[in-house]
Amino acid sequence: MQRLMPGLLIFVLAGVACQKESESATEEAVTETAQTAEQQPVTQEPVTKEPVKEEPEITCDSLSIPSYELWIRDLSELRCDSCHNDKIAFNGIKFLTYEGWVAVAEAAKIRIETNRLTRPLDPIEQRIFLKWFDNGMPRLESDCADKG
Ligand code: HEC
Repeated sequence: MQRLMPGLLIFVLAGVACQKESESATEEAVTETAQTAEQQPVTQEPVTKEPVKEEPEITCDSLSIPSYELWIRDLSELRCDSCHNDKIAFNGIKFLTYEGWVAVAEAAKIRIETNRLTRPLDPIEQRIFLKWFDNGMPRLESDCADKG
């Protein structure tokens, strides 16, 4: 026990010193913050946080499946609609709408697969179309929720 005492004493003293040091450090930090706050008044609006959703929202995009809504409508307008619309409809094919695509899905898929098109697609566009066909041609982003 006697041999333990000096060690214990040092331990206790060191502990007290440490505590003091950290107390004064905290004090300094507090004064510093107060000063900064005084110098630069906070003008930012408080951030309103979105409530945490119970379940993650599953979209076609989050599953890496293209949807008509997000991808195909634009691609169609860019690559197909100019020759397949209400005025010009080669082979009677009108894209323009989701229903238009569904009506000729099979023929369109074959054309896209083989790229046998009057204006061929680039490989990335071709892949987007084929992924869309292979995943059942989802119309809206929300249509993929049950595929997760
Ligand atoms: C520059 C005009 C032009 C564009 C753009 C165009 N097509 Fe066509 N398409 C035609 C013409 C002309 C025909 C009829 C001759 C033929 O069959 O190639 C045709 C025919 C078709 C057919 C009929 C095939 C069949 O078996 O009856 C399909 C399907 C088709 N196009 C799909 C598409 C798709 C999908 C796109 C967009 C990726 C597209 N086309 C873009 C001109 C075009």
